[in-house]
Amino acid sequence: MTQNNEQRMQQYLHTVETYLDEACFHYDAEPQKKLFESIRYSLLAGGKRLRPIMVLDFCKMCGGNADSAMPLAAAIEMIHTYSLIHDDLPSMDNDDFRRGNPTNHRVYGEAVAILAGDALLTAAFESVAGAKLSSDARIHAVQVLAQCAGCTGMVGGQVLDIMSEERACTEQEILDIQIRKTGALIRAACLMGVIAGNGTAQQLDAAVTFADNLGLAFQIRDDMLDVIGSAEKLGKAVGTDETKNTFVRLYGLERCEELVQKHTQIAIDALAAFDSNDFMTDLAKSLTDRES
Ligand code: IPE
Ligand code: IPE
Ligand code: MG
Ligand code: MG
Ligand code: MG
Repeated sequence: MTQNNEQRMQQYLHTVETYLDEACFHYDAEPQKKLFESIRYSLLAGGKRLRPIMVLDFCKMCGGNADSAMPLAAAIEMIHTYSLIHDDLPSMDNDDFRRGNPTNHRVYGEAVAILAGDALLTAAFESVAGAKLSSDARIHAVQVLAQCAGCTGMVGGQVLDIMSEERACTEQEILDIQIRKTGALIRAACLMGVIAGNGTAQQLDAAVTFADNLGLAFQIRDDMLDVIGSAEKLGKAVGTDETKNTFVRLYGLERCEELVQKHTQIAIDALAAFDSNDFMTDLAKSLTDRES
């Protein structure tokens, strides 16, 4: 990234971290204290914060005020964090490390981890409902978030992913899994940014093209990192996808690298619908060879 964009990235990160820490899930009284602790344990454990940054920057690219989009940015990070807590559960991917720490259920037990996810999902909608935006914008954001998080979006993709283990999927089936389980929340992030910034119908369409292609590139890179990445840099275990239907399994690493480049370029081309798209272009490019 250029120095300017790196600086902007740090500013966004600071805004997101501060908001999540100050505004979210403070409750010290027993008996729910453990639930709140477990939520903050996962939510504030770092993470790249890509989805909230996309909300803020898409809002800005549409000429909106990024501060007004902050509750929407927090909402997508809450849903993303919930998806990770549940994704790591023994009945799903059964992982022990996430964001550099033991997974939520390893620390708080499965029941609390499940409930922490439930609470994060619910709180996300409360956050969107309370945003200082027009009623129309808030309703539109709630609708987009629900569609992208639910059975036609992330949850739908997770089900396909889990149910297709141990059998070989076609390219189309793998595309379907990837676009839903990872692409859908990225789509929600970009669309909510456009909604908060009062963007045009054409910008909404462009945000979908950007998000779907970036989401695909992002998940293909995630699958590649399971093979070539380092657990230390990623903050999660590697070599755990052997039974999964990934593009790496279907095509091998070299073709995957080409696909990451191809879909990132399609995503970047879609940004032509926005003025001042330099930061998002740079961010998309930087993800192609990410190591974490
Ligand atoms: C991990 O997402 C799960 C996938 C969708 C591949 P991220 O790589 O964005 O995870 P964090 O938020 O940085 O921990
Ligand atoms: C996860 O995909 C997608 C969601 C959490 C919705 P993965 O199972 O590949 O994510 P990691 O590799 O555990 O982060
Ligand atoms: Mg998974
Ligand atoms: Mg997983
Ligand atoms: Mg993975």
